Amino acid sequence: MSAKPIRLKIEPLDGSFGAQVTGIDLAHARQKAEMVAALEAAFLEHHVVAIRGQELEVDDVVAVSRCFGPLEPHVLDRFHHPDTPLVLVLSNRVDANGRAMGLKDAGSFWHSDVSFKKCPARATLLYALEVPDEGGDTLFCDMMAAYDALPEKLKHALDNAIAVHDYANRDRVAHRTGTKPRLDSENLRSVPPVRHPVVRRHPVTGRKALYVNPTYTVCVQGMEASQSESLLGEIFDHCLKGQFQMRYRWRPKDVVIWDNAAVMHAATTQNLEPSKYRTLWRTIIVGEPTY
Ligand code: SIN
Repeated sequence: MSAKPIRLKIEPLDGSFGAQVTGIDLAHARQKAEMVAALEAAFLEHHVVAIRGQELEVDDVVAVSRCFGPLEPHVLDRFHHPDTPLVLVLSNRVDANGRAMGLKDAGSFWHSDVSFKKCPARATLLYALEVPDEGGDTLFCDMMAAYDALPEKLKHALDNAIAVHDYANRDRVAHRTGTKPRLDSENLRSVPPVRHPVVRRHPVTGRKALYVNPTYTVCVQGMEASQSESLLGEIFDHCLKGQFQMRYRWRPKDVVIWDNAAVMHAATTQNLEPSKYRTLWRTIIVGEPTY
């Protein structure tokens, strides 16, 4: 007899997408196939899923993340968790010698995780160990709704377009805001530029989404630089309209998992006051090539 499908209690987050799931203990639920299937369904439908009040150790975070697919270490190895390179520590704390205890700002720019690789991240999971009472929110942008709302003529023009994504562009963007480059030349060589469709079909649902972002996307292939820049500018202005955005306000012990084929996101940690501590663990769930 096949297992009865589970229905989770799901409530919308503020905005037109994203959901909060309650009544689930992830440390145990991850062992139950029907729970994992229900979470996966929520993830596909809502793009961003928050599960509050979770008591997790680092092994649990890895195991829960693995329910969504294989994991990979982040290209930036300096802030891997001491017990596993599969967990990146995001933190603005420093130790007694003044050394950073984690990556202070994982990306206060709009991006889709790991779009600089041929196999970008399917999903990202964050677990909040400590968060300030105010600040350090994460912003999300619904790239499926943004695609749906494009004028038909532009949709048609973009449908077969290819864009180039390059990690090196992140450091250029960061440099403009006064942040130091994150990767040394050896790290950079391991992430050469890659190509992805501008309009990407979701690998599971088949729904179309815009798959370009201001951090890693450098140009549209086959276009003059100025033409490509103006097209990307037009797309980003469109996506970043308030109607496609959602702000997630963290609480300690929150787990948030998001679908990088459906949303882009931006941290706001660049503006966090140094006296307000924020420490999260992050995993990256590997996706498939986009074409
Ligand atoms: C990220 O960009 O992956 C992290 C987001 C955050 O720290 O809010």
